[in-house]
Amino acid sequence: MTSIIAPSLLAADFAHLADAAAAVRPAADWLHVDVMDNHFVPNLTIGLPVVQSLRRATDLPLDCHLMIESPERWAPGYAEAGAYNVTFHAEAAADPVALAKDLRAAGSRAGLAIDRDTPVEPYLELLPQFDTLLIMTIKAGFGGQSFLPQMLDKVRTARRHAAAGHLEIRIEVDGGIAEDTVAQAAEAGADAFVAGTAVYAASDPAEACRRLRALAGAAA
Ligand code: DX5
Ligand code: ZN
Repeated sequence: MTSIIAPSLLAADFAHLADAAAAVRPAADWLHVDVMDNHFVPNLTIGLPVVQSLRRATDLPLDCHLMIESPERWAPGYAEAGAYNVTFHAEAAADPVALAKDLRAAGSRAGLAIDRDTPVEPYLELLPQFDTLLIMTIKAGFGGQSFLPQMLDKVRTARRHAAAGHLEIRIEVDGGIAEDTVAQAAEAGADAFVAGTAVYAASDPAEACRRLRALAGAAA
């Protein structure tokens, strides 16, 4: 599978989100939208009305990463709003498989996220019900943190499991992905790469996406 590059709007100017989407449009595959509720994580970002507006402002597929409590209550709304993929956290979901089914029924793909301190093994058996597995390579909550290479063991474990079971699942890494870290994540088996700071702090965000894609592709 070719690599997916998903710039994270968390590092963009929140007063100009449509411009931030347009800036990466020629070079990005998905647009990553970090929804934080000030409960599951201490930070507070954006919610459904902003995603609804973004849906009208760009044709890039929206990759919504919900760092929220009670995802069963809120996540289907993002699918109904036209998100391409809706990812919720394993730590927050009472019944991840039921929610994945609800998301698919509501028209999106379903993603499961694993935070820094959560092992991946208990969730491997659930992966046939999911389209994406997001492995945090930082502690969820804030952009601009340093990549944690020890998280790649989880990527390797998940990739081995997916290959053995012939699962069609994207393994997405999120946190500290940049030119100096993307290759090791690709080597470990990731095939979708979220990058906030590395894209939006760059002088040319589209070019930053292209460089990440080239580095990921060369390492895969
Ligand atoms: C943080 C978010 C990330 C964030 C990554 O919890 O899930 O998507 O935007 O930011 P960088 O790429 O700056 O580490
Ligand atoms: Zn994210």
